[in-house]
Amino acid sequence: MSYNLGNMLKERKNKTIFRDGDKTIKLFVKNHLKSNVLNEAINQARVEENTQLNIPKLLEVTTIDSRWALVSEHIEGTTLAELMEKNPDKLDDYLDTFVDIQLEVLSNNVPMLNRIKEKFKNKLNNFDKLNEATKYELLARLEGMKNHTKLCHGDFNPSNIVIKEDGSHYILDWAHATQGNASADAARTYLLFCMQEKNEIAEKYLNLFSGKSGIDIKNIQRWIPIVAATQMSKGIEEEQEFLSNWINVVEYV
Ligand SMILES: Nc1ncnc2c1ncn2[C@@H]1O[C@H](COP(=O)(O)OP(=O)(O)O)[C@@H](O)[C@H]1O
Ligand SMILES: [Mg+2]
Repeated sequence: MSYNLGNMLKERKNKTIFRDGDKTIKLFVKNHLKSNVLNEAINQARVEENTQLNIPKLLEVTTIDSRWALVSEHIEGTTLAELMEKNPDKLDDYLDTFVDIQLEVLSNNVPMLNRIKEKFKNKLNNFDKLNEATKYELLARLEGMKNHTKLCHGDFNPSNIVIKEDGSHYILDWAHATQGNASADAARTYLLFCMQEKNEIAEKYLNLFSGKSGIDIKNIQRWIPIVAATQMSKGIEEEQEFLSNWINVVEYV
């Protein structure tokens, strides 16, 4: 199958996203690890097959000019991120919808997915630059966390939600999906807002998530240093200093 790559939707560091009619093509840079691409594909397929969630159907895993590509259904609509930008006065309503969708995701079980505690443990163990004492403390904290099996999106942020014109919503981007703890998923969402310097939204989100889920804010906060360390282990230069401040909170929480 050949695709028309004339309509570029988004350009990222390691991939470009195109629309060709009713399909979206996620085209990765040359030499992008095929294990990552195939992992994203299997996660998307497993969520599609094991839940009733609205997600774009995965149509094809292929290569285009020696670059890996994932082809999915195109979802016509506007992301919640774009809506929040466009209509700041409606922020509270959007956040309400956002948290409801996250809780809907978390109410599912997809038994074949990797476990969040295992994934985080591997990331921390392989994070060579993290000082040994902090690593030890974070690993011990992680070990003590309960073994839950809720479907965690892993990158739940407003750019991964598309709202269609009829008001229905679709959830994109399942590359980081795992099964695990709702608090961990919420901690990551909170941190993602903070990393975009959206601190006020981050606090609102945290309160709303805690209120709707019945999970104590403290339980979410306990995950933040762990989640910050896993993000830091990606080695993205401009994030390092910011994230190290969150990891150091470990001593006080
Ligand atoms: N299936 C799709 N339907 C509609 N838009 C999409 C689809 N996949 C991706 N997009 C658009 O491209 C953006 C980036 O895609 P995403 O899969 O979230 O990759 P990234 O890893 O870069 O976040 C999304 O925020 C959305 O605007
Ligand atoms: Mg995304």
